[in-house]
Amino acid sequence: PQQLELKNVTLRPGDKLKLKGEILHDAEKFRIDLGVSSEDLALHFNPRFQDDADGAVLVYNSKTAGSWGSEGREMHNPLQRGNDVKVRKSGSRTKWFQDVLIVELPDGQKLKFPNRTNMDVITYVQVAGDFKLKSFKIY
Ligand code: GAL
Repeated sequence: PQQLELKNVTLRPGDKLKLKGEILHDAEKFRIDLGVSSEDLALHFNPRFQDDADGAVLVYNSKTAGSWGSEGREMHNPLQRGNDVKVRKSGSRTKWFQDVLIVELPDGQKLKFPNRTNMDVITYVQVAGDFKLKSFKIY
């Protein structure tokens, strides 16, 4: 199910996004997409719990004009089914989206994703999948 779709936010370098929610007990996957539209994403952050190849894995990618980029996989996945989680996205102090997107996970682990698409403003946010969103904050 889709939890949230925002089409006219303005997230600039230095801004942070915090999502809190619960990963459903039988979760297969969920995603947090950031970009300028559903077809152009700086970051598709896609925790999976029963991926065919890797089981529990954090999958990430970018999307340009509807086409996925090259997929990355982080095997250390501290997210667990049935847990409450907070996911915070922030960026390097100077050039946030130009450089890197940082996802801070509940265990303090920080994942860094290159901003391949070079978006300097993010206007589109979508949260979908087996995640019950409880709060959303941009600051
Ligand atoms: C595909 C999947 C998409 C997206 C993409 C990321 O296999 O169907 O939803 O997660 O991987 O690379």
